[in-house]
Amino acid sequence: MTVGWTIGFCTLGSWSRPHHTEGRRGFPRCIYAVAVRRAVLLAGTGAIGWAAVRRLTTSDWQVTVTGRDPAHVPPGLDVVGARFVQADRYDPTTIRDIVGGGADLLVDCACYTAAHAATLVPFLGDVTSTVMISSKAVYIDDQGRHSNSATPPQFSGPIAEDQPILRPNDADYDSAEGYGPNKVAAEETLLASGHPVSVLRASKVHGAWSRQPREWHFVKRVLDRRPSVVLARRGEGADHPSAALNIAALIATLAERPGRRVLNAADPDCPDGRSIASIVAAHLGYTWQEILLDNTAPEGLGRHPWDRVPPIVLDTAAAEQLGYTPVGDYRATVADEIDWLFDTATSSAPHDLLASVTSRYSTAPRDYADEDDYLRRRAT
Ligand SMILES: NC(=O)c1ccc[n+]([C@@H]2O[C@H](COP(=O)([O-])OP(=O)(O)OC[C@H]3O[C@@H](n4cnc5c(N)ncnc54)[C@H](OP(=O)(O)O)[C@@H]3O)[C@@H](O)[C@H]2O)c1
Repeated sequence: MTVGWTIGFCTLGSWSRPHHTEGRRGFPRCIYAVAVRRAVLLAGTGAIGWAAVRRLTTSDWQVTVTGRDPAHVPPGLDVVGARFVQADRYDPTTIRDIVGGGADLLVDCACYTAAHAATLVPFLGDVTSTVMISSKAVYIDDQGRHSNSATPPQFSGPIAEDQPILRPNDADYDSAEGYGPNKVAAEETLLASGHPVSVLRASKVHGAWSRQPREWHFVKRVLDRRPSVVLARRGEGADHPSAALNIAALIATLAERPGRRVLNAADPDCPDGRSIASIVAAHLGYTWQEILLDNTAPEGLGRHPWDRVPPIVLDTAAAEQLGYTPVGDYRATVADEIDWLFDTATSSAPHDLLASVTSRYSTAPRDYADEDDYLRRRAT
């Protein structure tokens, strides 16, 4: 479904649907009319939304983005031609007013429950392709453990989309035990609608404007000019990263290929914590000494956000078979978030958002005191 056209003139263009006329001085001139497609990104001012805005506005998309707080809108959003609408995703009038007119692409970055999903369903008949952002937190291992369990899961290898998942329930979705089951319920509600809905199961998302910028764990150490980086379990833990830039590329593919399906969405590689630390430091031109801790180190020392052993890895073959090509590997794509964090933190007036989104990824200076103490005792 096409909802708009852009009409203009060019002198030697090769635009779609040209109608040739004679220009001044005899040059052939064409009147062009380019079909403009409409994309709606609900809760789209975070990492995935901002990456999708940048991706879609490089081609024929007219993009509308919603979010609660205008102060949290990436400043480049209007520069690339997207439109911001302040609207709460969970206010029923938001969906009616913004999705009700139909769209070629709808991306929901804040669909956490069956009830959230149900508010979309009446409007999906007028949407060509819907993408719901879900999570790898739905997957369970052979003992029913999931990525938010008190006891971590032990997956035997890369997780494909047919891996068993949690049973849906309506416990508090904003809790470790309720997040996964509610995501399953939301997925099922949308898939049962019969409309072309693609469910994307992302892992640890990274990207500029993320509300969960885990790489801060290492960026902060660089800013604090720490001489060493201390890594639990020799830094061998890994938990698949998902670049918002890669998710945006997958969304763009799904816009062209509407369908009803579930796909993993993760980077083409899965670096471990040690590699991530080294990639962050190298990107910022910093060097530090690696302290690789073994099991004899005190509990909690050197913990980092990717500390999963055995690693959690998603199998992304199904997305690739649909024609999706990743933008790049972790090293290439994480620069987007590192630069945003570094530039924001070192600006003369850091954005208010920074403190609220980074606080849980660094507990410095307490961490530093604990590790300095440990290293001092180890040296004597
Ligand atoms: N981050 C991860 O590691 C991760 C992993 C797996 C799956 N996911 C899934 O990814 C989705 C989140 O995408 P993201 O990582 O791009 O988001 P994000 O960086 O966490 O940003 C969240 C976005 O949602 C907006 N938002 C929150 N509540 C809203 C509401 N009630 N109404 C309107 N906007 C609202 C925020 O804007 P305001 O600041 O204005 O509120 C912000 O734009 C979720 O569905 C999550 O389950 C994330």
